[in-house]
Amino acid sequence: MTTKKPIRVAVTGAAGNIGYALLFRIASGEMLGKDQPVILQLLEIPTEGAQKALKGVAMELEDCAFPLLADMVLTDDPKVAFKDANWNLLVGSKPRGPGMERADLLKDNGKIFIAQGQAIDAVAADDARVAVVGNPCNTNVMIAAAQAKRLPADRFTAMVRLDENRGRAQLAKKAGVSINEVSELFIYGNHSPTMFADFTHAKIGGKPAAEVIGDEAWLKNDYLPTVGKRGAAIIEARGLSSAASAANALIDHVRDLTTVGAIHSVAVASEGRYGFAEGIWAGMPVKTTAAGYEVITSYEMDDFAKSKIAITNDELIGERDTVKDLLG
Ligand code: NAD
Ligand code: LMR
Repeated sequence: MTTKKPIRVAVTGAAGNIGYALLFRIASGEMLGKDQPVILQLLEIPTEGAQKALKGVAMELEDCAFPLLADMVLTDDPKVAFKDANWNLLVGSKPRGPGMERADLLKDNGKIFIAQGQAIDAVAADDARVAVVGNPCNTNVMIAAAQAKRLPADRFTAMVRLDENRGRAQLAKKAGVSINEVSELFIYGNHSPTMFADFTHAKIGGKPAAEVIGDEAWLKNDYLPTVGKRGAAIIEARGLSSAASAANALIDHVRDLTTVGAIHSVAVASEGRYGFAEGIWAGMPVKTTAAGYEVITSYEMDDFAKSKIAITNDELIGERDTVKDLLG
């Protein structure tokens, strides 16, 4: 029997598709450890349908008899959901449909993150950390962080881990090697088709990926768009946006942010690193430390990489301009 104090994990949009692929894995210990009890604090919108569906999910969680699931809170009130929460996983928001870009969701989804940012800052635990998944996640996290007076900006992250996982999988497939052979593949910039999956520093079996693949045209003209547009390809194939792979990436995101020494891609407050504008949230490599994380700033970018980073930076600045009324 574990004697650890439970960690409170708030999850928004808990009755949605990602929620259904996520909660059971958190409760079974895949995110925070097999000896770490958790309390799930689940937020859904205040409609009868959503609250009823949430109850159903909670019944199934109960029926799993997870030894690590110490308690559950079901609510439509952000201040209840985020109360004393250590991790705040902001999934709840509209997904895009076929033919849309994620930025098309800004006007609808952006305002959700004002109220949630305020509630987290007001009631979450002193060590609260936030991971935004709801799209467009880089800009939504900026909106939430803009509300914070108590919590520092580095506690607010958005997820580009699905893109890193996609990027590693595509490189492994092309090279015909196991996924474990692919390292140092990091995502820079926006969770959108402009993201830069930096193959120029990636390694396959410890050697430069570009050398192993031996096809620069494929890397530039095929690989980058395949990774960047994978979300749209999933929507086209499934008729719904990615859910299991997104939940899996969120598990990876949080697990690696709580594993000292882990090196992984996270969208963080840029602070001007890698040429990104101050004040936007951009994907970049981080190394988890005992105190949180530090951004790895040692990768030297060539002209091609710099030009790709400039494009995704411009898009993030454009998204910030679109939501400037939500940042006050
Ligand atoms: P979904 O529609 O199945 O579920 C979303 C849930 O959120 C719904 O149950 C809805 O009632 C709830 N919700 C909406 N507004 C809310 C609010 N203000 N508070 C609490 N709950 C709220 O959608 P999904 O497939 O689970 O996707 C959720 C979001 O995640 C979408 O925006 C999607 O685009 C995004 N997403 C991001 C990534 C990524 O890599 N960053 C990957 C996949 C999906
Ligand atoms: C994804 O990358 O699968 C998600 O962000 C969903 C989407 O809209 O592409």
